[in-house]
Amino acid sequence: MQDDIKEVLFSQEKLAEIVKNMGKHISEDYKDKNLLMVSILKGSVVFMTDLMRAITIPCSIDFMAVSSYGSGVKTSGVVKIIKDLDIDLKGWDVLVVEDILDSGLTLSYILEILQAREPKSIRLCTLFDKPDRRTANVKADYVGAIVPDEFIVGYGLDYAEKYRNLPYVGILKPEVYGD
Ligand code: IMP
Ligand code: MG
Repeated sequence: MQDDIKEVLFSQEKLAEIVKNMGKHISEDYKDKNLLMVSILKGSVVFMTDLMRAITIPCSIDFMAVSSYGSGVKTSGVVKIIKDLDIDLKGWDVLVVEDILDSGLTLSYILEILQAREPKSIRLCTLFDKPDRRTANVKADYVGAIVPDEFIVGYGLDYAEKYRNLPYVGILKPEVYGD
């Protein structure tokens, strides 16, 4: 696995520091609210489990899965719900937790359908933001780090379902996905 990584961008220690900081901010902002963290599977699962433990106020969690990528590295523009939430959003202050905001198509779609379910509030939290590639009009309320326009893997992020278990985040060698 390591041989396929061109460069390590975020070490395990750096990721822990970023996530701890995000948890602190979210805990302050949501201290009088009814926080429901909604993790978008599968990419955000590692981030989510670390982030929720960095949050010091009561919170609930739920999961949702959509597909937009298949096994490629560019969005297809087609987003489909694979697994829906269990919890009714009415009365919740929803925080959508994503691994990476790229074109923004996935999050703009998710936001639209969740908004229609009338939560008390809805905001977005993403570990990584790749602003260079944005096509949809989406802005995250919490961003862990800005990343360059390269394909990154590890800490939950995959290429073709691989590399999610790397404890750090690195740039995938382009020859791995045949660019
Ligand atoms: P968007 O709809 O283009 O914003 O795509 C967001 C989704 O694409 C993320 O939730 C990731 O699953 C995936 N994605 C985008 N860029 C990367 C990357 O660099 N590495 C791994 N997955 C990525
Ligand atoms: Mg993915």
